[in-house]
Amino acid sequence: MQIHFAPIQGYTDTIYLDTFARHYGPVDRCYTPFIRIEKGRPRHQDIARLASIATPIPNLTPQIIFRDADEFHILSDAVKNLGYKAIDLNLGCPYPMQTRKGRGAAMIVNADTMAQVCALIAADADASYSVKMRLGLESPDQWRSLMPTINATPLSHVTLHPRTAAQMYDGEIHADEAAEFIAACSHPVVYNGDLRSPSDIDAILNRHPRLHGAMIGRGLLARPSLAEEWRQQAQWPREERLRRHIDFYASLLHAYSERLCGEAQILQKMKPLWQCLEPEIGRKAAKAIAKATTLAKYEKAVGEISLRGDDI
Ligand SMILES: Cc1cc2nc3c(=O)[nH]c(=O)nc-3n(C[C@H](O)[C@H](O)[C@H](O)COP(=O)(O)O)c2cc1C
Repeated sequence: MQIHFAPIQGYTDTIYLDTFARHYGPVDRCYTPFIRIEKGRPRHQDIARLASIATPIPNLTPQIIFRDADEFHILSDAVKNLGYKAIDLNLGCPYPMQTRKGRGAAMIVNADTMAQVCALIAADADASYSVKMRLGLESPDQWRSLMPTINATPLSHVTLHPRTAAQMYDGEIHADEAAEFIAACSHPVVYNGDLRSPSDIDAILNRHPRLHGAMIGRGLLARPSLAEEWRQQAQWPREERLRRHIDFYASLLHAYSERLCGEAQILQKMKPLWQCLEPEIGRKAAKAIAKATTLAKYEKAVGEISLRGDDI
């Protein structure tokens, strides 16, 4: 059973993933946030980031988002030219900026374009492909019309987030529809959504024994030891989790400091990460970190986090 780290735009960049793997060991697969077209070309910043990795991150799959076969072609070529042999297709992004243009979750209801893209995938001997998708754009049964195309395409796996795009990332999980999706899909299925503790992972794997794995996003951001705890089948005490987490962020701060220019940019990267930890470190500590305007104030605020949880 595999654990995948979900792509989270703005958070799980290659520096984050690389530092994460050094501290907690690599997950089975991780993904870049989606790479997109800008002015007819792969967005420079996305490609530069991928090209700048000195040592390849184990099991890193670049993800692309596209609105037609041309965009798919340009982006998959760009990624393959950097030496990547696995590519993930984003059919799940719910943001109207993408879906209004037919990208992300809108692709679930665009069977013609997907048929063209899937024909290109079938003819491509140079890379393997996976798909990350939702149940639908507006209604949770929209996956059904796309499934024959998905099943007829050679894919390494399909990741399912069992919500519609209209729901974004919260609200009801369509559990019955997800079960039908998993049964209907002929590829290995990875389940994604709301897995925040080792028991959440166990529960979903018990409910769907056919699953190939679990993909975790916010759960791993808030608790980076989650995959390791699950693998060890032992929950770490809070103090141990937090101590390791603080060490991890100290390395991350160092890695960003080497690559980014100026304190403001570094703080812009680090501060949102700590906000995911508010339930663990308490409101007061999270607020002090959020208010830090210099690295010195940031480090002072981090240094004052109570490992014993006295302030929470
Ligand atoms: C801020 C943010 C950015 C995201 N960026 C991406 C992305 O680039 N590609 C993608 O496939 N999913 C993206 N997602 C969705 C996550 O990969 C994941 O599917 C979602 O958070 C649900 O899983 P979780 O409950 O484990 O977090 C993003 C989610 C959030 C909240």
